[in-house]
Amino acid sequence: MTISSLGLFVISVLIAEGQGTPKRFPDDFKFGVATSSYQIEGGWNDDGKSESIWDRYVHENPGRIYNKSNADIACDSYHKSDEDVEMIKTLGVDYYRFSLSWPRILPYGTTDYVNQKGVEYYRNLIKNLKKNNIEPMVTLFHWDLPQTLQDRGGFLNEKIVEWFRDYARLCFQLFGDDVKTWITFNEPKQTCMMGYGLAIFPPRVSGHGILEYKCTYYLLKAHAESWHVYNEEFRQRQKGRISIVVDFSWWEPMVANNTMFIAAAESGIQFMSGIYANAIYLGDWPEIVKQRVNERSRKEGKTVSRLPAFTEEEIARIRGTYDFFGVNFYTSVLAVPNPIPLPSGILNDRGCLSFQSPKWEGAGSIWLKVTPWGLKKLLKYLKETYNNPEIIITENGYSDTGELEDDKRISYIKQHLEVILEAREEFGVNVTAYTAWSLMDNFEWIIGYRDRFGLYHVDFTDPERKRTIKKSALYYRDVIKSRCVDGKCE
Ligand SMILES: *[C@@H]1O[C@H](CO)[C@@H](O)[C@H](O)[C@H]1NC(C)=O
Ligand SMILES: *[C@@H]1O[C@H](CO)[C@@H](O)[C@H](O)[C@H]1NC(C)=O
Ligand SMILES: *[C@@H]1O[C@H](CO)[C@@H](O)[C@H](O)[C@H]1NC(C)=O
Repeated sequence: MTISSLGLFVISVLIAEGQGTPKRFPDDFKFGVATSSYQIEGGWNDDGKSESIWDRYVHENPGRIYNKSNADIACDSYHKSDEDVEMIKTLGVDYYRFSLSWPRILPYGTTDYVNQKGVEYYRNLIKNLKKNNIEPMVTLFHWDLPQTLQDRGGFLNEKIVEWFRDYARLCFQLFGDDVKTWITFNEPKQTCMMGYGLAIFPPRVSGHGILEYKCTYYLLKAHAESWHVYNEEFRQRQKGRISIVVDFSWWEPMVANNTMFIAAAESGIQFMSGIYANAIYLGDWPEIVKQRVNERSRKEGKTVSRLPAFTEEEIARIRGTYDFFGVNFYTSVLAVPNPIPLPSGILNDRGCLSFQSPKWEGAGSIWLKVTPWGLKKLLKYLKETYNNPEIIITENGYSDTGELEDDKRISYIKQHLEVILEAREEFGVNVTAYTAWSLMDNFEWIIGYRDRFGLYHVDFTDPERKRTIKKSALYYRDVIKSRCVDGKCE
């Protein structure tokens, strides 16, 4: 090769690389798949497991769940975890994200009594994963609080900080030699806003702009104390990492370049998501949340704000309690300022409304519109807002009615993987892992078994809960194997 042809060669390689989007994931990028205990395990009262708030809720209010379904059996993973591991292995993922059922390990909620059968179940699952070179990524809390702790006030009792910390410490002791990635809470919004604010999820307590904040205050402290326990008592020996997972939708101003709409979008994202991240990643509540709730409380004639104030010590204790930024992303919304007062509560405090464009492609779930561009904008926002943390996408997925030839799910995953590569390349966002939700169709909370998110189909009318691989699982397997979003490299 002559100097000039070498020059041409280099130039043509550069041009080829500059064309289109980068479509290949680096070798150290990790792929995973996720589930949660209540949604898949079943065995709701087997071997000494006690009731969770979800067990109580679906049993007492069957009419509030689509088709009067419950998760007493769900995917029967309590009896079929070997099969689960085989399915995970087929995908070729680096890790499996699942959650521990607190009432299965601690039927009384506290560490006074440990249910050995429950511990054995998770030990076997973890050993089996390790044997197959699949790393466990373990969530301590995915909404199934022991009912017995709910009876003592749940997240409105400050003792939740100790209860959760002690449960976390026990889990580090029991499983920490094998588990190197821990998540304290999954989507705190569903616990505090949906559970203690809007009262849509159990325990269905109406918060009136008071209790949803109180819940968040204690939950953030419980997260921080658990992080400190790990940091001080386990990190050196176990060498793992621990953080929280916050769900973010992207908030796009409905009118571009309009200050009021831009402010509405910022308020929306901060009240819905930033409120669970700011204290951990930056310190204290988001400024806009403090400002709006404090001012509105004053106007309501209250002498104390409805938003509990963090002390300086608390701010310092919570700030920095993370090892990565865990984010669940599904969809986007359009933000509109809302001058009309709604009934009291967090949705009124945030001062904006959200809409989704009818032009956006839909999915099986009414709230889920396909907006990969929103993930791209969100990743840039997270980098800029939270000081460029390492980001792990802990959930992302698409719902339908359970088709095996699920081309729309493939398209959804593909488009989201593409923007992850673009965000890394164009904005330097440090996304290091992607987790598909979900391994298999499962109990989708109040929607029951209607909306299916699985890479595997589950037949819930079959006592054996037969699982069948979907086309999207094969696609995901090929992506992981080739590291290219098309499932093969050109
Ligand atoms: C908004 O502003 C940006 C940058 O100033 C501009 O590129 C864009 O065209 C504007 N959009 C609209 C809808 O006015
Ligand atoms: C991304 O995060 C990982 C883990 O913290 C770190 O090792 C790596 O240097 C970061 N990469 C960039 C480009 O910041
Ligand atoms: C709804 O319930 C009926 C009767 O039990 C059952 O045949 C059907 O499969 C259920 N559908 C869903 C989506 O759960």
